[in-house]
Amino acid sequence: MKLQFKAIATILFLLHNLCVITADLKSDAQALLQFASAVPHVRKLNWNSTDPVCTSWVGITCNDEGTRVIAIHLPGHGLFGPIPLNTIGKLDALRILSLRSNFLNGSLPSDIPSIPSLQFLYLQNNNFSGNIPQTLNNLTRLTALNLQFNSFTGPIPELNLTKLLLLNVSHNSLNGSIPSSLQKFPVSSFEGNSFLCGTPLSQCSFPTISPSLPVRPTEHKKKLSIAAILGIVIGGLVLLIILAIFLFFFLKKKDKDSVSELTIKAVPPGKNEKSDDFGSGVQAAEKNKLVFFEGSSYSFDLEDLLRASAEVLGKGSYGTAYKAILDEGTTVVVKRVREVGVAKKEFEQHMEFVGTIGRHPNIVPLCAYYYSKDEKLLVYEYMITGSLSALLHGNRDIGRTPLDWETRVKISLGAAKGISHIHSEGGARFAHGNIKSSNILLTADFNGCVSDLGLAPIMNFPLTKPRFIGYYAPEVIETHKFTHKSDVYSFGVLLLELLTGKAPLPSSSHDEVVDLPRWVRSVVREEWTAEVFDEELMKHPHVEEEMVQMLQIGLACVARVPDNRPSMDDVVKMIADLRSSDSSEHRASSEDNRSKSSNVQTP
Ligand SMILES: *[C@@H]1O[C@H](CO)[C@@H](O)[C@H](O)[C@H]1NC(C)=O
Ligand SMILES: *[C@@H]1O[C@H](CO)[C@@H](O)[C@H](O)[C@H]1NC(C)=O
Ligand SMILES: *[C@@H]1O[C@H](CO)[C@@H](O)[C@H](O)[C@H]1NC(C)=O
Ligand SMILES: *[C@@H]1O[C@H](CO)[C@@H](O)[C@H](O)[C@H]1NC(C)=O
Ligand SMILES: *[C@@H]1O[C@H](CO)[C@@H](O)[C@H](O)[C@H]1NC(C)=O
Ligand SMILES: *[C@@H]1O[C@H](CO)[C@@H](O)[C@H](O)[C@H]1NC(C)=O
Ligand SMILES: *[C@@H]1O[C@H](CO)[C@@H](O)[C@H](O)[C@H]1NC(C)=O
Repeated sequence: MKLQFKAIATILFLLHNLCVITADLKSDAQALLQFASAVPHVRKLNWNSTDPVCTSWVGITCNDEGTRVIAIHLPGHGLFGPIPLNTIGKLDALRILSLRSNFLNGSLPSDIPSIPSLQFLYLQNNNFSGNIPQTLNNLTRLTALNLQFNSFTGPIPELNLTKLLLLNVSHNSLNGSIPSSLQKFPVSSFEGNSFLCGTPLSQCSFPTISPSLPVRPTEHKKKLSIAAILGIVIGGLVLLIILAIFLFFFLKKKDKDSVSELTIKAVPPGKNEKSDDFGSGVQAAEKNKLVFFEGSSYSFDLEDLLRASAEVLGKGSYGTAYKAILDEGTTVVVKRVREVGVAKKEFEQHMEFVGTIGRHPNIVPLCAYYYSKDEKLLVYEYMITGSLSALLHGNRDIGRTPLDWETRVKISLGAAKGISHIHSEGGARFAHGNIKSSNILLTADFNGCVSDLGLAPIMNFPLTKPRFIGYYAPEVIETHKFTHKSDVYSFGVLLLELLTGKAPLPSSSHDEVVDLPRWVRSVVREEWTAEVFDEELMKHPHVEEEMVQMLQIGLACVARVPDNRPSMDDVVKMIADLRSSDSSEHRASSEDNRSKSSNVQTP
């Protein structure tokens, strides 16, 4: 059995190689010349068989090895008439086909949907007609499909394309109902087709058209929304009662054990010379306590902490973080928080809750806290490698070590696991609320750990100038409420940041700030360019596939409608899958490369 498999695999491999050898740059050039001679064009194409295809033909891009054509960009070249069979359809290494804004018509040639490598198909602003072919399902790698402003008719076929990120069939003459696989796309993907119906457009009205029909759907909707409101009210009440019962027992239990409190001696007046240090608000007269969490192995007290040599690590939205080195050599991070929006009792209860759910390898441990009228301190374990933000954006210009793709994936997986744990342990109403790259801290072996857990819910909502929106989901800016789905959004922005190397918030060393979701969407929508990715990553072309996959995950997370975002659990699975498929694909693709390069050498 095994031997047979091996033999078959070998034969398949040889066949594959044979294909690679026969379908080379020469046949690509041939197909292009046939296209140029069959399709009239207003602007001249400088495609001359005596010139090198990869470097001098307008609109043509080859792979790095210069062995295959992988992209055609001919927007607005005045191409008209139909695309004949056996021209572009023969370019079977093509990834990008952009023929937008021409006068092409007729139906889509049947061989284009059989180009296995096609990822980006831009045919908008032409006059293609006929049906959108079902055979597009063969394009398993298709990422963007732009067919808007054509004359396509008939129903949209069911497209099971898992990699499809962007679909636009607006402004055609399509009819029928939108297939379920495409209902996740926004209204603007479909509008301008007067006989198209179903989610996300208005309901289809089957089967006969009668004058009373247009009224009914709206009535139905109203009833539904009253039911929904009732549901929410009742659900809310039940939840409140459950929460009250839970809290009652929880606190009762807490009273008995768990917290080991250290009573602090009054701080001698002379000790507070550094007035802007984190201890300046500690009142000597107050009976102060530094509260440690159960299981914490630290044995310092507040006095030790105030005596420690401190160094500012950074100023965040909720306060300043200091690195404090205690006499005994222990290093901790002290966060001095301002703008606490709750009273002492609530603060303490909240911190106990946070201390309990925050025990996870991907969450930065909170060791202790201190609360007085003028000073609120949180003591965290010190993470030696610093923050993801510093690693991504720090020292870009001066010979830094770039963060490689494997490490970026590892960090994002760790962070995702941490957030997922918070969501499952904290319950439906507990969100992190402040996921961003400066709150992802790294252990010595680049494990991503989530920091600042539990702060956002008890803080006054920070003022958001448009420039500082950064990681906030659109609904958070309106409601000032954090949810699991808003955490997913913020994490999506973080993934886009990892991929693009661009900062969504201003930082000292890096002034360029972009609205990442919007920017990435626009790049994907317009014309695919590898420019979306961090140039530091582009040195390793074999990871592009994975990067595109990660981009999909990121874009799914930053969906505008919260319900369309995946759960954090799903995100963990998706990132983990990327990794597990990676090892096998990796080997295959490097084998592929080797065979390709050996082909180059054969005359
Ligand atoms: C192709 O280039 C050669 C030499 O550069 C030139 O003689 C020939 O006319 C060109 N052919 C076309 C179709 O432009
Ligand atoms: C395509 O356009 C040309 C003129 O540009 C026209 O003669 C031809 O009939 C059109 N074909 C179809 C199928 O619409
Ligand atoms: C699409 O794939 C199916 C099965 O994989 C194959 O039978 C069919 O010929 C393909 N169609 C095109 C247009 O390549
Ligand atoms: C596009 O094609 C349709 C028929 O398929 C035709 O009626 C229409 O005039 C064409 N539009 C343009 C701008 O050529
Ligand atoms: C799409 O996928 C569903 C299930 O995953 C399957 O039932 C359906 O036949 C598929 N449709 C096409 C056109 O492949
Ligand atoms: C859609 O339009 C075509 C003509 O383009 C027509 O034959 C078909 O019956 C229409 N289907 C629906 C569901 O309206
Ligand atoms: C689809 O194209 C139309 C017209 O260009 C545009 O207004 C709309 O925003 C696009 N929608 C998407 C989802 O790309």
